[in-house]
Amino acid sequence: PLPAKVKIVEVGPRDGLQNEKTVVPAEVKIQLIDMLAEAGLPVIEATSFVSPKWVPQMADQVEVMQGIHKKPGVNYPVLTPNLKGFQAAVKAGAQEVAIFGAASELFSKKNINCSVEESLQRFEEVMKAAKEQGVPVRGYVSCVLGCPYEGKVSPEKVAQVAKRLYAMGCYEISLGDTIGVGTPGGMSEMLEAVRKEVPVDALAVHCHDTYGQALANILVALQMGISVVDSSIAGLGGCPYAQGASGNVATEDVVYMLHGLGIQTGVDLHKLMDAGAFICQFLNRRTSSKVAQASCKL
Ligand code: HMG
Ligand code: MG
Repeated sequence: PLPAKVKIVEVGPRDGLQNEKTVVPAEVKIQLIDMLAEAGLPVIEATSFVSPKWVPQMADQVEVMQGIHKKPGVNYPVLTPNLKGFQAAVKAGAQEVAIFGAASELFSKKNINCSVEESLQRFEEVMKAAKEQGVPVRGYVSCVLGCPYEGKVSPEKVAQVAKRLYAMGCYEISLGDTIGVGTPGGMSEMLEAVRKEVPVDALAVHCHDTYGQALANILVALQMGISVVDSSIAGLGGCPYAQGASGNVATEDVVYMLHGLGIQTGVDLHKLMDAGAFICQFLNRRTSSKVAQASCKL
């Protein structure tokens, strides 16, 4: 049985833009975020409070957080790798944050410059501060279906890291196929393992679409009881520390599939496509969304 409703977590302004070479001005990011909110998305990951030396595109995080027109009922979480990021995020007005770990040691080292165990200790500090201030924390696990540096990643390792993040207090765990190598079989096996450790209603899937498997993988996740899906407008995206990672699954394509399945999202596909057209025009780039490319409009 499929869920009646799915919560889409739009990660375009963060995951979608973090890997862009040309710096996108804060005004453009702000307008994009406002258009995404207008389209009915309930959660929009707005930016990252990471080091500007590591991810220059996110150096305007304070301006972005302070410039968006926060729509009532919409959450605007931001990435915070450590306490320094958390404090800066809260100061800039963030009301929700996300910590991001990995199921692969080498990816953890490349992405956040520490081992998985060290990262979990840093996240404990963030969590402690977040609890004191009543800030909800989302947790990511990267490389759940494969790692660009280690190759195969075992479902058990994913389950262990997901369990730790959930136990420390993350209200939701997003399982990231960082490099988009997973197939439905691998997704199903991995979710089977994670479901034993974390309740399924606290799980989300975060699929990149490198091998064109994202929608199929998402469908399998829905069939296994997951009802939170991360996606990125126009299919933008890629992690700078995951060689060969391409864009996330396009939000337009996820919405089209979900609505076709009779699943509610609260998202207006036409307004969503306007937001996609806006950012692609700015980037001077063809959209990666198949739905936005389609000329036979229904
Ligand atoms: P480090 O160099 O080990 O940190 O980086 P450090 O503590 O030694 O500090 C070094 C410098 O960074 C110092 O500045 C700190 O103040 C500064 P300096 O004295 O040299 O001028 N610093 C910070 N500045 C701003 N904000 C902060 C911060 N922390 C320290 N929060 C660090 C460690 C985690 C900071 C670094 O590795 C980093 O910023 N990494 C972020 C990488 C990133 O953003 N990756 C992309 C997001 S993850 C992703 O895309 C995957 C996901 O989509 C899911 C999926 O697809 O799987 C979520
Ligand atoms: Mg990602």
